Amino acid sequence: MSEKVIIIGSSGAIGSGFVRYYENKNPSNIIYSLSRKEIEYSNVNIKNVLIDIENEETIRSAASICSEQGSFDKIIIATGVLHDENLSPEKSFRYLDKEKFEKVFSINTFGPAIISRYFIPLLNKEKSSFLGFLSARVGSISDNRIGGWYSYRASKAALNMIIKSLSIEVARNNPNAIIAGLHPGTVDSNLSNPFQKNVADGKLFTPDYSIEKMTSVIDNLTSQNSGDCFAWDGERIEF
Ligand SMILES: NC(=O)c1ccc[n+]([C@@H]2O[C@H](COP(=O)([O-])OP(=O)(O)OC[C@H]3O[C@@H](n4cnc5c(N)ncnc54)[C@H](OP(=O)(O)O)[C@@H]3O)[C@@H](O)[C@H]2O)c1
Repeated sequence: MSEKVIIIGSSGAIGSGFVRYYENKNPSNIIYSLSRKEIEYSNVNIKNVLIDIENEETIRSAASICSEQGSFDKIIIATGVLHDENLSPEKSFRYLDKEKFEKVFSINTFGPAIISRYFIPLLNKEKSSFLGFLSARVGSISDNRIGGWYSYRASKAALNMIIKSLSIEVARNNPNAIIAGLHPGTVDSNLSNPFQKNVADGKLFTPDYSIEKMTSVIDNLTSQNSGDCFAWDGERIEF
């Protein structure tokens, strides 16, 4: 049976992998690929819509375009930042910088939160539907053993709290919805590229491998799991 899916951040390694996965799974799937860069697809069932998750107007307008297709079975938010030309994860409190902190929160926390505002109404209410946020194990407070990466860790910890609150509220009028965080493992991408040298052998995943694993996790979740964060191998990550 075909599905209707929205992938936000579809130019990224993980976002593009999700688009590929759902296209290969069933070429009749209706896929909305949301990105800040234009992407062309040969499959007419994949529609690219522009979005800048730091700009609420583009979020609102992208949701309005998607709503022309009615409701959706899966919405996955695969945007995120760890470093850019002006940013790198802080190794020490000495590097804490308000503007950089705000940038990381703007993309990793505020953007996904505002996306929720406009996209949760698009989740199917008639049957099980899924809203997934790419989070990260390093956003777990209890799992933090080596410190550092202040803004990235904090942005994902805050995202996890938003996921939890959303799950509680949304269950009241859409009990079929599953809202969860996903930790993809360490995946070969622009985001992880500068930090790959200490990754143990066999632990740097291709996007396709991670997505194969994450989609099998997603397919086995129930509304009982809403509000939690799951790793690529199905492990529930303690907050
Ligand atoms: N890779 C890993 O090892 C790893 C591990 C744990 C968690 N994660 C999480 O997985 C998610 C995806 O990461 P990735 O590895 O696929 O990284 P990636 O390849 O760098 O992709 C990041 C995506 O975010 C998009 N993005 C950033 N700011 C945006 C904005 N303002 N508006 C719209 N799109 C924006 C990028 O768009 P552009 O192409 O336009 O820049 C890109 O599509 C992130 O949330 C990350 O924290 C990744």
